[in-house]
Amino acid sequence: MSLIALARGVTFRSREVGARGSRRTVNQRASGSERSSGRRVLVLGSGAREHALARAISRSSTTAEVVVAPGNAGTMDEGGADAAPIRSIEGARLDPADVVALAQREAVDLVVVGPEGPLCAGVADALGAAGIRVFGPSAEASQLEGSKAFMKQFAARHRIPTADFEIVTDMVAAEAEIRRRGAPVVVKADGLCAGKGVVVAQTEAEAIEAAHAMLVERRFGDAGRVVVIEEALVGEEASVLAVTDGTSLLVLPVARDHKRVFDGDRGPNTGGMGVFAPSPHVGPELLARIEREILRPTIDGMRAEGRPFRGVLFAGLMITPAGDPLLLEHNVRFGDPECEALVALLDGDLAAMCASVAHGKLDPTAVRVAPGRSAVVVVLAAAGYPGTPRAGDVIRGLDEAAKVPGVVVHHAGTKRSAEGIVTAGGRVLAVTAVGASILEARERAYEAARRISFAGGHFRTDIGASVIAAAR
Ligand code: AMP
Ligand code: GLY
Repeated sequence: MSLIALARGVTFRSREVGARGSRRTVNQRASGSERSSGRRVLVLGSGAREHALARAISRSSTTAEVVVAPGNAGTMDEGGADAAPIRSIEGARLDPADVVALAQREAVDLVVVGPEGPLCAGVADALGAAGIRVFGPSAEASQLEGSKAFMKQFAARHRIPTADFEIVTDMVAAEAEIRRRGAPVVVKADGLCAGKGVVVAQTEAEAIEAAHAMLVERRFGDAGRVVVIEEALVGEEASVLAVTDGTSLLVLPVARDHKRVFDGDRGPNTGGMGVFAPSPHVGPELLARIEREILRPTIDGMRAEGRPFRGVLFAGLMITPAGDPLLLEHNVRFGDPECEALVALLDGDLAAMCASVAHGKLDPTAVRVAPGRSAVVVVLAAAGYPGTPRAGDVIRGLDEAAKVPGVVVHHAGTKRSAEGIVTAGGRVLAVTAVGASILEARERAYEAARRISFAGGHFRTDIGASVIAAAR
């Protein structure tokens, strides 16, 4: 029986499966534990974020099995004494009705939603209506990410500090607003555009061209029918995530993402090329202020407006040179690659944390931040990314990379083929390392990254470098 057969849902039998180079009998996983009667969890998505979530959930003593839809080559694991098995449902569709049917077929007790698309499409609402517990906000609450115009107006209503803005729906208004502000100026398509709908324009002409592409050419379809034009902010970015049941919240360590494809923040924007956490740029006082001025008013405001937010709220912030935090964007899910780093920094039971929120009452004791631990994630991207990535390149060195202490190689755009594991997406792997400091985590992550190779693969070499330079 191949792993692919396992992925199609063939029942586990007592036989050896050699995923990730480890060989254990499959029925060892349930022996003498509460696992077999435990929770069955469905994780939606196919990135390194979902691999990290699935892995952490599989390590909860109360998890019986994790199913990842559609998953990737990494989200298949036979489990063992310390982890429940993980299996992918290749080709699974994430429309609300499909997800409900899948959750019922797999008899899952909990669904954890990775990406924003299914949330904005109403997956959490459909699951809720079918009586299935879900970690992730309703479609209405997901508007915080699904509509930038909604987010900006919400911020204005609740006095949450954010870049000054104007909302436009035609070129006359867009051009007038761009000229009034002058360059640099930021032009954003209202709807979801997979990270491609934001242009930080250095000239008025570039801004007008961006607005034209959105409003007139409809490059992003309906997502560009409404456009936000806003003040360009400068400073240090920070990703602050908080788990919430709609009332109470648990703020996670602050992560620093690297959005541009090349070293030194050059080249086009990507989904994120690497992260370090905790970010030394945000100390405890500033974090308390971010909670007070941004996270709290968002959670309270959403509840007061009758669309309580349950799940994980991800505030993308700019810390200005004066030290003030301003909200750039809200996301309604874990960040990728932020999630890989945060999961590595948490001890405890992530499955219990997600389940508590899904039941409506966050258990703040389910997880805790491990003291004295830092994480660095380096994303290995495919040839062509962030343009059209090339697929099918054979990936070598995964086992060697995993031997570096403190390292887990999370899969993103990977799939199994007759030749072995091959590339199948833009971001291919997220090499995640923990250490006693950012320096140690960074050295481990790069040692592991250098052991992996595939044709055309590329990664940034400066993730965490600024922290080390500042400490010298
Ligand atoms: P978003 O899709 O809203 O997260 O924006 C993507 C990236 O664009 C952010 O991570 C920032 O790097 C940049 N960005 C967004 N809004 C602004 C702004 N007002 N000023 C400067 N940079 C911005
Ligand atoms: N890394 C940024 C995001 O997940 O949107």
